[in-house]
Amino acid sequence: MTEAASQSQFTPRVFSGIKPSGGLTLGNYLGAIKRFVEMQGPDFETLYCVVDLHAITVWQDPAELRTATREVAASYLASGIDPEKSILFNQSQVSQHAELGWIFNCVARVGWMNRMTQFKEKAGKNAEKQSLGLYAYPSLMAADILLYHATHVPVGEDQKQHVELTRDIAAKFNHDYKTEFFPLTTPVIEGPAMRVMNLRDGTKKMSKSGESDMERINMLDDADTIAKKFRKARTDPEALPDTLDGLKERPEARNLVDIYAALSDQSPEAVITEYAGAGWGQFKPALADLAVEKLAPISSEMQRLLDDPAEIDRILARGSERARAIAAPILERTYEIVGLVR
Ligand code: TYM
Repeated sequence: MTEAASQSQFTPRVFSGIKPSGGLTLGNYLGAIKRFVEMQGPDFETLYCVVDLHAITVWQDPAELRTATREVAASYLASGIDPEKSILFNQSQVSQHAELGWIFNCVARVGWMNRMTQFKEKAGKNAEKQSLGLYAYPSLMAADILLYHATHVPVGEDQKQHVELTRDIAAKFNHDYKTEFFPLTTPVIEGPAMRVMNLRDGTKKMSKSGESDMERINMLDDADTIAKKFRKARTDPEALPDTLDGLKERPEARNLVDIYAALSDQSPEAVITEYAGAGWGQFKPALADLAVEKLAPISSEMQRLLDDPAEIDRILARGSERARAIAAPILERTYEIVGLVR
């Protein structure tokens, strides 16, 4: 059977998730959350998860983990994920994730895990001291996706390799058990903000865990902080060119143009056309104003939601129940295929 034919038997379904570890950045917003919102609608059934089991692959203070979990849920809601249209839940309330994760630990190969660049980056020279969970994490991520037979996964560029591994795991499972049970999921990585870079070093990704707060915009930063961070963002002395080609060797400048494009729903080409010849004294304040205009309503709504954690917990519990209704029969069938007596 061709891949296209084998995929057509699956309901178009989107799954994606964010780890509740530390605060959320503009990278999470533009590379993930904003796009999650855009995929809600008639074309897909959408599931958005707070992947708390992934967060504990590195140490998390229990009280901070609870807060961060509610904060990710609040960011989804405040950005426009509608818990009626989408299934919004946290991973640990659906125990099938961990169960399918185990099955996939037995499908994935050690050699595949050894190629995961994110583990190498995170572990550095200290691989021996990392948790086994951090190493096995991509097979749990495959389980998150395949537990729902998700056909599409919107993620930022840094997660592409993990979604490709998910396809490898699905293909090996299907091959080993002579079935077409799991889909070969498509990573959806498109738009100008697939890799939002660090404001101090345009060759590094903007991340929650970078050393200095000045290198990232946090979703909960206030207007003054956002303006200050863009004003101090590293750039070069030159004005903006009139084509994107002129930004090839200018990663910091390219990053700010891409952020502007993503925030204003335009292409980077359109931004360059509008600002050709502009200096940073003009572009940076315009970018800061735009970011504040887009982020301020989201962060104030997040704060409002976080004042009522019981309501967030209620939404997550309800979403988990709906997620289980899809997950349970898929796990059950997986167990049968594998030969586990039930
Ligand atoms: P996490 O929590 O690190 O990031 C969540 C999402 O945000 C995107 N992202 C970015 N996009 C663009 N530029 C950036 N600087 C940037 N920083 C983060 C990430 O690409 C991601 O889409 N392993 C995943 C979570 C996960 C998951 C899943 C995702 C677990 N199971 C199943 C999809 C499907 C992670 O650690 O993302």
